[in-house]
Amino acid sequence: MTTKQLPADFLWGGATADFQYEGGFNEGGRGVLSHDYETDGSKNAPRHHTLRMPDGQLITPKSSFILAEDVPEEAQPVFLDNQYYPSHQAVDFYHHYKEDIKLMAGMGFNVFRFSVCWSRIFPTGEENEPNAAGIQFYNDVINEMAKYDMEPLITICHDELPMHLALKYNGWTSRHVIDAYVKYAKALFENFGDRCRYWLTFNEINAVRGFGPTGVRKASGQDRYQAAHNMFVASAKAITLGHQLMPKSQFGAMYAMSELYPATCKPEDMFHHLQARRENWYFVDTMGRGYYPNYAEELWQRHGVEKLEMAPEDVDTLKRGQLDYIAFSYYRSNTTKSGDDWFNVGGSANPYLENTPWGWPVDPLGLRYCMNEIYDRIQKPIFIVENGMGAVDEADANDYVEDDYRINYLRDHLSAMADAINIDHVPCLGYTMWAPIDLVSLSTGEMKKRYGFVYVDMDDKGHGTLKRTPKKSYQWMKNVIATNGAAL
Ligand code: BG6
Repeated sequence: MTTKQLPADFLWGGATADFQYEGGFNEGGRGVLSHDYETDGSKNAPRHHTLRMPDGQLITPKSSFILAEDVPEEAQPVFLDNQYYPSHQAVDFYHHYKEDIKLMAGMGFNVFRFSVCWSRIFPTGEENEPNAAGIQFYNDVINEMAKYDMEPLITICHDELPMHLALKYNGWTSRHVIDAYVKYAKALFENFGDRCRYWLTFNEINAVRGFGPTGVRKASGQDRYQAAHNMFVASAKAITLGHQLMPKSQFGAMYAMSELYPATCKPEDMFHHLQARRENWYFVDTMGRGYYPNYAEELWQRHGVEKLEMAPEDVDTLKRGQLDYIAFSYYRSNTTKSGDDWFNVGGSANPYLENTPWGWPVDPLGLRYCMNEIYDRIQKPIFIVENGMGAVDEADANDYVEDDYRINYLRDHLSAMADAINIDHVPCLGYTMWAPIDLVSLSTGEMKKRYGFVYVDMDDKGHGTLKRTPKKSYQWMKNVIATNGAAL
């Protein structure tokens, strides 16, 4: 049997996102963020944004999964007293960071991926100087991590915008947001660059979230690909600047790359699969190689894109600001066949696989497949920055959870990862599991869809003591890390 032991410098850790984890939404001078107006939901009841029309009428469109044209431009976000907004408290990392970092260090983490909240640094996105209290908070976090030799992996933008930028410019459709982003990134480099080597310019950039009155909605066609272009340019500019200011820095962007298989070997299904997978490769190829791929025009036509607004210097900007490594999230695999819609995440189930309680097909070998696929294509190191299993945990009277299902999921995925590294020789910088401490689900806004090694006493409406208690998987992961994978 091939050893599962990993290279000595392998990075082991966990990943979180500010609006799902941090809370403190009106503390330390933080401005409002697109996600602050999203209500809770569930598997069967989608999350909503709460918006008001100029005539006072309330509208509550479904959150991130809607298309741009569904929400009138004049709608303004509003907080309603009878609604619960999970991002406001999240699980309060803002006041629990010392305890949480100690718990993560207790498992042996040498890296922790977190996202900086843009509106904590620039409350509207348009100030000239960063908010000192926001800088202080992340300095405190990074310094606390340093006590345990844990290095940061910072996500500059995790699917979010200061609300002001979303409203004033219709988010990423405008080139104004490129400048706001680069100013924000520069503030992070200047303040945290002495202690941070690894950066991610965007989370799941291929999902292209960040528009108009809701600030997190998806867009289609022209808007979507214009926004993506502006994000490519913003990322490339930040990378070039980051390399100048921090010569040892390494930059990635993060892609939702859950695997996609053709549903059958029928040639039409195979070709549809090639095109469907390009819905994601488009983003990886452009940023990983520094230029648009040959199939871009066909893809634009398919999506009704007429002409993208590009500045003459963008070609050079993309070339210079290429990624150093390719980061991705992997949760599941899907299938597609001729006639299916185009999508980035989702798709039909696979009859050979079991599903999680939230209907996500579990496919460890798909992770090894995906790692090989990305490296074959781009030839740059990869970094798995999200992988994990959302499950309903039943805690006992002491808040202890026996989560063998999570251990099984992680063991199988980590074994597949080790095989890609040791047998296929795919260079992989590290693995940050989503999410080491229980936090709020992005898609449903629930608390009961838990991922963590550590249980947080909080329910779907934010009630609970917020007490943290390690689960059975905590000890298991500690042993995996202590043996650098050999115990898998
Ligand atoms: C990824 C996101 O898509 O998946 C995370 O980057 C998210 O923010 C994670 O939490 C898991 O999804 P969910 O909906 O189960 O929270």
